[in-house]
Amino acid sequence: MFEARPAAKVNLTLEVGARRPDGYHELRSVFLRIGLADRLTVGPAPAGEGDQLTLSGLPVAPVEGNLVLRAMELLRRTVEPGLPGLHADLDKQIPIGAGLAGGSSDGAAALELAAAAWGLGLSPARRADLALALGSDVPFFAAGVPTALVEGRGEDVSQLPAVEGGAGVLLALSADPLSTARIFARYDEMAFQSAPGPTDALAAALGVGLSGEALADWAGNLRDANHLWAAASWLAPELLERRSALETATGRAWLMSGSGPTLFALYRSLAESRAAAQHLASDRPPVLRDVMLCATNLDDPQHAWREQWPTEP
Ligand code: C5P
Repeated sequence: MFEARPAAKVNLTLEVGARRPDGYHELRSVFLRIGLADRLTVGPAPAGEGDQLTLSGLPVAPVEGNLVLRAMELLRRTVEPGLPGLHADLDKQIPIGAGLAGGSSDGAAALELAAAAWGLGLSPARRADLALALGSDVPFFAAGVPTALVEGRGEDVSQLPAVEGGAGVLLALSADPLSTARIFARYDEMAFQSAPGPTDALAAALGVGLSGEALADWAGNLRDANHLWAAASWLAPELLERRSALETATGRAWLMSGSGPTLFALYRSLAESRAAAQHLASDRPPVLRDVMLCATNLDDPQHAWREQWPTEP
């Protein structure tokens, strides 16, 4: 049995450029891997049976089309047909359609685990190609780096040094997913004229070494560095009030991850983000009624703290 903890990411910046002939957009984004993680195990399916996936944890989309199964099919189709069936178990802790790329991380981990279970050696170039075929966020996770400047459609991943000494992240999760494709379509309709943002300056600062405390101090500069904010808050207008309530209650800037709807704030440490989460949970403004809080660090899934999802038993 092979096991992994596919982690979520947040985007510290997300600058969207031109729409390309293939329909995707040129991106420039600083990705930060965080401690909130799913759990994936992969082993052989019973003799004679095809690939299988069982799901547990948070509510998820149907098994069909799940990136774990698609990763196994892709390897079978492109690397070696006729491989025996695999059984995968996925315990979801990262909500879907949240802007945290949980599904993409599961897909990257499934490529690794299925290749290991089948004893396939994948070159880095092959792994990168397969990752991009699964989705634009998958190459970041397949690269196995904690922090990166991500460009192109998502395939151009330049590793940046990890945040020194780690950091705390407080996530405000929504029970209602947002479709990335819909957000990008709305972005195009809005003909948003975006000025160049702080991506290069942040990448340069990380490049020479940034502590968690210094990163938290950057948050004010990063607050408006997500070009998808206008489209996301048009499609999910509750985000406007939600962000302002979070900022009033915590006294710090809140950012949106990816195409939303997850909002997050940066702290010096897990202890600080957890204290802020518990304070918010005990004195919750009414507009934050539908939000689930999760405090995490940058690398340790064991210590992520989150509220119960409304539909969980
Ligand atoms: O690659 P992935 O399937 O994750 O992308 C989901 C959707 O997000 C795409 O269908 C596209 O609408 C949008 N997208 C984009 N430009 C990117 C990445 C994603 O327009 N670089």
